[in-house]
Amino acid sequence: MMVLQPGLAPLCLLLTAVCTNCQSWTLSVPHKISALQGSCVVVPCEVTYPGVPKSANEVTTIWYKNSDKKFNSKEQVVRWKEIGDIERRNCTLEIDQVENADAGQLQFRIEVKNVNSYSFKENLVTMELIDDPLEPKLNLPREVKAGDRVSASCEALHSCPSHPPQFTWRNIKGLNHVQHQRLQNGEWKSSSTLEFTPAIQDNDKTLTCSVEHRGGKIKESSERLNVKYQPRIQNSSSCSVNTTTVSCQCYVDSNPESKITWRVRNREMGSNSIDQKGTMTVGTLQAAFPLSRNVLCLATNSYGKHEMSLPLSLHEKPEIHNDSRCAINATSLFCICFVNSTPPVDIQWQLPGANLSSSITTKQGDMTTAILKDPITSSQSISCLAVNDYGRASMTFTVPKYEKPEIYNDSRCATNATGLFCICFVNSTPPVDIQWQLPGANLSSSITTKQGDMTTAILKDPITSSQGISCLAVNDYGRASMTFTVPKDDLMWYLFIALPSAAVLLIIVLVVVACRRRAGKNTADVNINYVNGKTSVDSEDNRNGEKSRYTSWETNEYQTDDQNIYCNEHPVYGNTEELQEMSHECSYSNTVEAEDIYANM
Ligand SMILES: *[C@@H]1O[C@H](CO)[C@@H](O)[C@H](O)[C@H]1NC(C)=O
Ligand SMILES: *[C@@H]1O[C@H](CO)[C@@H](O)[C@H](O)[C@H]1NC(C)=O
Ligand SMILES: *[C@@H]1O[C@H](CO)[C@@H](O)[C@H](O)[C@H]1NC(C)=O
Ligand SMILES: *[C@@H]1O[C@H](CO)[C@@H](O)[C@H](O)[C@H]1NC(C)=O
Ligand SMILES: *[C@@H]1O[C@H](CO)[C@@H](O)[C@H](O)[C@H]1NC(C)=O
Ligand SMILES: *[C@@H]1O[C@H](CO)[C@@H](O)[C@H](O)[C@H]1NC(C)=O
Ligand SMILES: *[C@@H]1O[C@H](CO)[C@@H](O)[C@H](O)[C@H]1NC(C)=O
Repeated sequence: MMVLQPGLAPLCLLLTAVCTNCQSWTLSVPHKISALQGSCVVVPCEVTYPGVPKSANEVTTIWYKNSDKKFNSKEQVVRWKEIGDIERRNCTLEIDQVENADAGQLQFRIEVKNVNSYSFKENLVTMELIDDPLEPKLNLPREVKAGDRVSASCEALHSCPSHPPQFTWRNIKGLNHVQHQRLQNGEWKSSSTLEFTPAIQDNDKTLTCSVEHRGGKIKESSERLNVKYQPRIQNSSSCSVNTTTVSCQCYVDSNPESKITWRVRNREMGSNSIDQKGTMTVGTLQAAFPLSRNVLCLATNSYGKHEMSLPLSLHEKPEIHNDSRCAINATSLFCICFVNSTPPVDIQWQLPGANLSSSITTKQGDMTTAILKDPITSSQSISCLAVNDYGRASMTFTVPKYEKPEIYNDSRCATNATGLFCICFVNSTPPVDIQWQLPGANLSSSITTKQGDMTTAILKDPITSSQGISCLAVNDYGRASMTFTVPKDDLMWYLFIALPSAAVLLIIVLVVVACRRRAGKNTADVNINYVNGKTSVDSEDNRNGEKSRYTSWETNEYQTDDQNIYCNEHPVYGNTEELQEMSHECSYSNTVEAEDIYANM
């Protein structure tokens, strides 16, 4: 190139300074790369050339395959594409839908405007084609425990990072995420990680990872899940008893298989035989041992243990408890029968000559309870009958007496000296509460007394209405009511006859006394003698000019010791006019104003 001469040394130094980061022609590509037929392949490529980086239109890149020109960055080309940024000296090439003709030796050439061109004959890329992708590599933890969170991974190799493979997991649900890792020679490893929590039911399921490569080729890998779990004793486990021996079978689901032992009355014993089918272990115990209510089955594996008490199906004849009964409570009459038996029995209620059906039956363990309600009528005898294969039991009950309420006809509303009251007598078994009612309202202030079957209710204060008042008695077996009329007549007599009569009497007496006082000398010791009357009244009153009033309605003539008073044949009534008349016509020494008299009434 340049011949160094002494006079050119300074120029050379200058050039060196300018080209401090100037580079020579270099190319970095893999020596070989494998491509999946029909898929894509990305050939990583980095190039350097002397001088500063140029813009894309100043650079042309060309690829040859076995000296056939396959790509030119300045021409339109299908399937071959420069995906690197040449301005950053990235000449990465992608070939899509790779076909057989693409395989061979690839050679890169670069032409840089105003610099030079360079064909990298030493840096060839050998591209091989493969027909089928490799199977993905599926990794599962060696031990998967039911309920624990685990992760599985699935790895696929490829050389098409621009369109990486798609992963699909089958048969197990979980969360997955994908990662990509660059390997050597343009090769990549993509991997999907599935995080999941296996359940017991997932044991033996096949976990599959399916990988679809660019171009549509699919490969998958599967692995069977081996989910470990602790023993679970099944409900189907049981014991049966015949006359001399007990035979028990304990069914245990577990992975790995369980060891099955037994405990009877605190004594441990092994199984007589063990059967294994899949994850099911069946242990059998056969023994003659003293009567015990139950036998314990114990199952153990390395993940845990489970035990279950298996009842011995002892057969017993039914037994009726002595607290079975027919009774009356506050609300109803009922019969209840408690029967203990193994196995539980059905209970039958019977009347002499008939079965009753409407019973409410509940079973709990060996105890059966039957309650009979509706169709019971009084004074019958009812039987409770319990039968099983091993015997029978029955108990007969006398139904207690009960009656619907009856209101006695001497119940009434009446008046006595203290006032108006209503009284109601009710006979019933059991005793009832009595309710007083007005039309449209209940009365509450009642005094109720109970004695035996008799309830007596007395209503007092709030009786104001002259409408009917009812007495109502209800129990489960019937109702009775009786309506009373508040005795209007008594009330009228009391208010309108008795009181006014007393008043009139008072007035007459008053008038008489007044007359006498005016006639006499205001002295005490009044003696009234009726001339033609039937009664006489003596009084010591009327001192100091006070007015005394006496009256008589059978005579019109009075006589006193001091003075005779003649009231001139005028009968005296509780009537204003008459009083006035009388006062005028009686002979007084002083004038008396009639107003004075009734002003005192
Ligand atoms: C070159 O370009 C490719 C495609 O865009 C890219 O994947 C790669 O990382 C680039 N290389 C460098 C060294 O930047
Ligand atoms: C087992 O017993 C339990 C509790 O009694 C019950 O919930 C469950 O359904 C039973 N399973 C089978 C298979 O009988
Ligand atoms: C019921 O039986 C128990 C025990 O047999 C006894 O103690 C109890 O007194 C009995 N009760 C009646 C009401 O007979
Ligand atoms: C009366 O007995 C019946 C039947 O046993 C029951 O359902 C009800 O609750 C009892 N009532 C009272 C107040 O005890
Ligand atoms: C009450 O009833 C009895 C029997 O029914 C009867 O003999 C009696 O006369 C009745 N008394 C009245 C006051 O109605
Ligand atoms: C009037 O009747 C009421 C209610 O029966 C009673 O409490 C009261 O003692 C009776 N009074 C007289 C004076 O009889
Ligand atoms: C009266 O009482 C009865 C029973 O307590 C109730 O059913 C009814 O509704 C009541 N009537 C009124 C008007 O309060």
